[in-house]
Amino acid sequence: MQEKEALLEQIEQAIRALPLEDIEPHGLYDPIRYILEDGGKRIRPLLCLMGADLYSGAPLEALSAAVAIEVFHNFTLLHDDIMDNAALRRGRPTVHKKWNANSAILSGDAMLILAYRILQDGAPGCGAGKLPELLRVFSRAAMEVCQGQQYDMDFETSERIVSQEAYIEMIRLKTSVLLAAALEMGAIVGGASDAERKALYDFGVRLGLAFQIQDDLLDTYGDAETFGKQIGGDIAAGKKTFLHIAAMERASAPQREALSAPGEIAEKLPRVRAVYDALGVREIAGQTIEHYFAQALDALRQAHPDPARRAVLESYAYSLMKRTK
Ligand code: IPE
Ligand code: IPE
Ligand code: MG
Ligand code: MG
Ligand code: MG
Repeated sequence: MQEKEALLEQIEQAIRALPLEDIEPHGLYDPIRYILEDGGKRIRPLLCLMGADLYSGAPLEALSAAVAIEVFHNFTLLHDDIMDNAALRRGRPTVHKKWNANSAILSGDAMLILAYRILQDGAPGCGAGKLPELLRVFSRAAMEVCQGQQYDMDFETSERIVSQEAYIEMIRLKTSVLLAAALEMGAIVGGASDAERKALYDFGVRLGLAFQIQDDLLDTYGDAETFGKQIGGDIAAGKKTFLHIAAMERASAPQREALSAPGEIAEKLPRVRAVYDALGVREIAGQTIEHYFAQALDALRQAHPDPARRAVLESYAYSLMKRTK
């Protein structure tokens, strides 16, 4: 198994090699280069390569699939930042702020097409005959991300308290399935059996749930410098995050009012945090993250019997749970 750093270097190189330099119209391609150029953790392509490595010991055969997924992920960020009215990403202005919303929409569209092209063109390296199956897994996840994003928006304006079940299903769709598909596509390239593929996908789903709850946590309690996104962005946008839902379930009437009343972020963030702190939702989030992470590790054990082969993925998963950005 190759170590994470070696795989990451290959991913960065492949992204730098994408044909995006000096082509016209610049207005279309500059935002694509900007969002792809640096700062991302590259979680999905790493999982894809590690998934392939787990079964074949030849991770780079999945490189084009890995890059396709990363391009797709970054496309979702361009559109997500418009939808969430987010001004900062990876410590820099978001594309719709640096350019404008139309640019973020169109460059995003082009990235979706680019993602499919990378997957298609790289298919011979992915092993003959595997492209239809890779496309099937990729397209299913891509559609599910859209479904999850729609639920995320629906919940924003919903008057009712969103249930934990509905929230988990929403984040499974908007976040988990892409991590899971990245792993499954790696497993397909690596020649895994159907049962192994399924278990690895499940590992990705569980890891993704823990990952998104942690993202919610960092959005309210993270360090602005390292997180790279605006702290309190979810609260400003009225998102039904894990923290919000856990708090609403436990809040008194005045606390509910404090959680829901509108306000400028400078006033609303400390107000909402105070209620979260009083209700211990930070700790509840932490326990829930651990719960899904333990499930993820169980699934990973099902995906491959050899602990030595699982070691890189396992330690990478652990490192993600300690992330601050
Ligand atoms: C951001 O994903 C979107 C979520 C699913 C929370 P990442 O945290 O993987 O973003 P980058 O690519 O590393 O910036
Ligand atoms: C991310 O959810 C889901 C997708 C981008 C599809 P968030 O809206 O929480 O992601 P961030 O926090 O903006 O990265
Ligand atoms: Mg967002
Ligand atoms: Mg969002
Ligand atoms: Mg977020």
